[in-house]
Amino acid sequence: MSSMSSVFATVAYTPPDAIFELTKAYQADPDPRKVNLGQGTYRDGHGNPWVLPAVEAAKDIIKNCDHEYLPILGHPQFRKLVTELVFRKDSSAIRDGRVASCQALSGTGALHVAGMMLRRALGHDRTVYITNPSWSNHRQVFESVAFSVREFDYASRDGIDMESLLRALNEADPMSIFVLHASAHNPTGWDPSPEQWRQIGAIMKERQLFPLFDAAYLGLTSGDYDQDAYAIRYFAEELDLEMGVCISFAKSMGLYGERTGLCAFVSRHHKVASNVESNLAQLIRGEISNPPAFGARIVTAILADDGLSSQWRSDLTTMSSRIAGMRNQLFDELTTLGTPGDWTRITQQKGMFCVLGLTPEQVHLLKETHHMYMAESSRVSIAGLNEGNVRYVAECIHQVVCRTGE
Ligand SMILES: Cc1ncc(COP(=O)(O)O)c(C=O)c1O
Repeated sequence: MSSMSSVFATVAYTPPDAIFELTKAYQADPDPRKVNLGQGTYRDGHGNPWVLPAVEAAKDIIKNCDHEYLPILGHPQFRKLVTELVFRKDSSAIRDGRVASCQALSGTGALHVAGMMLRRALGHDRTVYITNPSWSNHRQVFESVAFSVREFDYASRDGIDMESLLRALNEADPMSIFVLHASAHNPTGWDPSPEQWRQIGAIMKERQLFPLFDAAYLGLTSGDYDQDAYAIRYFAEELDLEMGVCISFAKSMGLYGERTGLCAFVSRHHKVASNVESNLAQLIRGEISNPPAFGARIVTAILADDGLSSQWRSDLTTMSSRIAGMRNQLFDELTTLGTPGDWTRITQQKGMFCVLGLTPEQVHLLKETHHMYMAESSRVSIAGLNEGNVRYVAECIHQVVCRTGE
C-alpha cells in the first residue's frame, strides 16, 4: 500500500436515507407555509410532537431510578409485560413458556436481532420475502445479516394484491421467511382482513414458511391494541405456528428517540425457547452488551399500573382518531375542490400513512412550489396534517394535479 492510498479506497459513496434527508430539507426551509408529510412521527393538532399523558405520568414515577446496567436480555418486567400484552397473558405460548424474548433497539433493532437469530437457526441460504412496496429499511436490515431478500407485489390500486401474495407463499421454498406487517402496512395502509390473514396463515402452515411479524403500529392503527394484534395471536394460538415478532414502542407510545422494542420468538417447546433465549443473550452481548433502560422503564411503569394502562389506551384512541379525522378532512377538501382523480383510498387505507398516487414530478412540484414534503412515492404521513394546514395541502395538491393534467 502506498503512503497515499487509503484502506477505504474501495468503499463507494452511499447515498443518505431519503426520508431523513427530507426531514432535513423541511427543517431548513424558511417558508412559514411548509408542511412535513414525510417522516412517520405523530404530531398533535398544532403540528407539534406529542408526549403521551401516560408517558408523562410514567416519567414522574421513575424519576428517582438509578442508572445501572440492565441485564443482557433487557428489563425483566418489561419483557414479561410486553410479551403478555402482545400474546395475552393466558395464551398457551406464554403459559407453556414457549416465548423467548430480548429487549431490542426499537423496531429496527428487533428486526436486526431477529435476522441474526434466524440466520443462526436456518443458515443464510434461506430467502427473506418482503412486500413490494415495503418500509424502506426492510431490505437493508436483512441484507446486513447476509440473507438474500426477495420482493413480492403486495398492493394494487385499490387494495391488497392477494393473488400475488398467495402466489409468493405457494412458490417459496419451505423455511423461507416472510416479513409480515402486523397492522398498518407501511407504506400502503392496506391490511389483510381477518379472513385474508386466515388464508395466509393456512398456507404458511402447510408450506412450512416462517412468519416474522413487524409490529411497529399496534394500537395506533385502530386505536385498539387487541384488534391490531389479531394476526399475531391468530398465528400463535389458533395455528400454533413458530414465529417471530418485532415490537416497537416508537409510534404506539411516542418513544421515538428512546429506542425501546422487543424481539420475541414463539417456538414449539419450552426447551427450544430457552435455547433460543440463550442465543439471543449471546447476540445482544456481542452487539450492544445490554439495552438502554429509560424507555423500558417508562413502558414498564405504564403496563404495570392499571390506571396508567387505561390512560395509554385512551392516548392510543386520541392519536388514531385524530389521524382518521384528518383522512376524512383531506378527502372532503379534495372532493369539494373537485380535484381530478379517485381519492377514496385516503379514507380506506389504515394507519399513519397513505399513498396518494401522485407522480414523482407532482411530488417534486409540491415540494419546490408549495413547500410540501413527502416521500417520492407520494406516501404521506397523515399525522402531519392538522386543522391549520389541511386546506392548504388539499389546495396545493389540487393545483399541481390540474397543472400537470392528471
Ligand atoms: C414498518 C416499520 N417497521 C419498523 C419500523 C421501526 O421503527 P423504530 O425502529 O423507530 O421502532 C418502522 C418505522 O417507521 C416501520 O414503519
